[in-house]
Amino acid sequence: MTNKKILLSGVKPTGRPHIGNYFGAMKQFVDLQDEYEARVFIADYHAITTVQNAEELSRSTMDVALDYLAIGVDPSKTLLFKQSDVPEVCELGWIFNCITTMPYLMRAHAYKDAEAKNKEINVGLFDYPILMAADILIQDADAVPVGQDQKQHVEYARDIAEKFNRVFGDTFKLPNPYILEHVKIIPGTDGQKMSKSHGNTIPLFATDEEIKKAVMGIPTNSQGVDEPKNPELDHVFALHKHFADKDEIAEIERRYREGGMGYKESKDILISNITRFIAPLREKRKEFEKDEESVKKMLKENGAKAREIAITKMSQIKRSVGL
Ligand code: ADP
Ligand code: TRP
Repeated sequence: MTNKKILLSGVKPTGRPHIGNYFGAMKQFVDLQDEYEARVFIADYHAITTVQNAEELSRSTMDVALDYLAIGVDPSKTLLFKQSDVPEVCELGWIFNCITTMPYLMRAHAYKDAEAKNKEINVGLFDYPILMAADILIQDADAVPVGQDQKQHVEYARDIAEKFNRVFGDTFKLPNPYILEHVKIIPGTDGQKMSKSHGNTIPLFATDEEIKKAVMGIPTNSQGVDEPKNPELDHVFALHKHFADKDEIAEIERRYREGGMGYKESKDILISNITRFIAPLREKRKEFEKDEESVKKMLKENGAKAREIAITKMSQIKRSVGL
């Protein structure tokens, strides 16, 4: 046990991560793993709200573990585990269900979006924020690094902790979202928030070809090379901000405003910067891919440790409730 604050976050195994996931959330897991007592997991229970194929789920789960390792999540510093190795979160989720109202859950953005799009909404999707609250609160998390789109979910966890404490007595810490202003919404190739569901992503481990294709596909207006351009209105420039250093960004901005920088040149610079950034990550991932058995073993051992923490907390919770 240390005096460090507890950091907890997770990512669902639902397809390839993109640079929005990386800058918005995953990078913080790496940057904060010394300062905090870090616990990071693969949200496989959450994934079954959408992934309902055993082979796909277990493959994606291993993929997320490899992704975490490749970006630098270090299992000697961070407790890296699979959500389903801690089944107590489902037990706690039930208790939270009983102190949460339907209208409150109906105000969740994810639910409202799904409803607005007339999607078929399973009970798991509706109850998603409850399970997420259980993930967070069972680990006594102080800080939860996520992108802006998950802020409401962390606030739900905080509300649920407050409600529980009020009803059953002081049991939970109140967690805070950890969101960095400049990366809270990374734009995709169409200028909207980058998201797997919008088809506008640049995968974090993209091949050189994929990077080229994604950047070349960014829509631009028809202004010629010499015309002055407003960088703030351009989707290519929006991405430069995350891949170029300060001086280079200033120089690109100057040439946009003065005229002389065409979109083709701007895209070529972006391709080269993204490629330089992604290539070493891709290489690192290949190293970890060679030994998936060790990764499985590490997840199992860490899962057992995370579960032990959860079981201890659960006995306190059950006492509070009278179970
Ligand atoms: P997606 O929207 O692509 O399905 P996930 O829901 O799997 O992404 O998100 C995983 C993590 O990445 C969450 O913490 C989420 O807030 C963050 N995230 C996702 N997209 C972005 C983005 N465009 N900008 C910043 N953070 C993001
Ligand atoms: N909902 C998060 C996402 O879509 C994943 C997640 C599940 C999570 N449980 C969590 C994130 C607990 C932080 C803390 O990305």
